[in-house]
Amino acid sequence: MARESERECLCFDLNTGAKIPSVGLGTWKAPPGVVGQAVIEAVKAGYRHIDCARVYDNEKEIGEALKELFSTGFADRNEMFITSKLWCSDHAAEDVSKALTRSLQDLQLDYVDLYLIHWPVRTKSGSRGFAPEDMAPLCLPETWTAMEGLYASGQARAIGVSNFSTKKLQDLLKYAKVPPAVNQVECHPVWHQPALHNLCKSTGVHLSAYSPLGSPGSWVKGEILKEPVLVEIAKELNKSPAQVALRWGIQMGHSVLPKSVNASRIRENFDLFSWSIPPELFAKFSGIHQQRLLQGTFAVHETCSPYKSLNELWDGEI
Ligand SMILES: NC(=O)c1ccc[n+]([C@@H]2O[C@H](COP(=O)([O-])OP(=O)(O)OC[C@H]3O[C@@H](n4cnc5c(N)ncnc54)[C@H](OP(=O)(O)O)[C@@H]3O)[C@@H](O)[C@H]2O)c1
Repeated sequence: MARESERECLCFDLNTGAKIPSVGLGTWKAPPGVVGQAVIEAVKAGYRHIDCARVYDNEKEIGEALKELFSTGFADRNEMFITSKLWCSDHAAEDVSKALTRSLQDLQLDYVDLYLIHWPVRTKSGSRGFAPEDMAPLCLPETWTAMEGLYASGQARAIGVSNFSTKKLQDLLKYAKVPPAVNQVECHPVWHQPALHNLCKSTGVHLSAYSPLGSPGSWVKGEILKEPVLVEIAKELNKSPAQVALRWGIQMGHSVLPKSVNASRIRENFDLFSWSIPPELFAKFSGIHQQRLLQGTFAVHETCSPYKSLNELWDGEI
């Protein structure tokens, strides 16, 4: 029985019929010269899921690492789950396929297992940042139709979204011919997202949790690993606060995407399957003060963005 539930935690089912491994290596802010080795360490430690994005500027080095892992027999392509994401400047229908082709070239792959619209935000084709003059009108139905084309072509074995609020996901589910397989959002013990969690559960959209450790090393500088409830539970279970935060996510039914470029932390973050948080300790997570850490202020502008406030960007979930 214990082994059965352990197996259930290793992967979650997607609405495509595929499985998504419950722990994926995050690669945002994993710098060049380091990210390739991190991917190799992760796969050797047992990870089979790597979360990439074109905008992270490191897919080429990840592609080299994957090629080495495949050619040396450490992993087969068909047991790996590779995600990439469509950046905001590639939302135009004619840019969507080109953007995936560039990611596939850099990753040295024929297909990705999951391709996500990175943000419900559109900037002008060819632009990089979010300067007001670079903002463009959003047209998610047009972008989603182009994503459906990638799914039909087999270049993306699943398609989904990221940073979608409950309302934006509900809207997408109304017009999508292919429903999204995943919504990748900020989620951790300090930001539970209960409404989104419930919608995802009832509609078969898998919730994948980014910044599951609160992104302490980025400008987000979340301090969730110092959260007293987490520290207390970690002490009680003889685990690290990071492991407890990740295990909480998995027990919620979310895949978790911890980023690390440190070999021992990469291993620590995967040591999640031979133990669990018992119900009496799990209940304590509901007492943690909630706070969205990655607010997306860059996407808000009084006149040039469809979102005049953070409240509009997140449809009140802030
Ligand atoms: N879709 C989106 O818009 C979006 C947004 C944000 C993130 N993401 C994805 O989610 C991934 C994870 O999120 P994130 O990078 O923001 O942050 P995170 O995984 O919550 O935290 C990463 C930070 O925690 C440190 N760390 C890792 N393991 C640790 C441990 N066991 N104990 C203490 N510190 C530890 C890392 O440092 P070391 O590297 O030095 O270990 C790094 O500074 C990203 O890399 C990206 O793939 C997606």
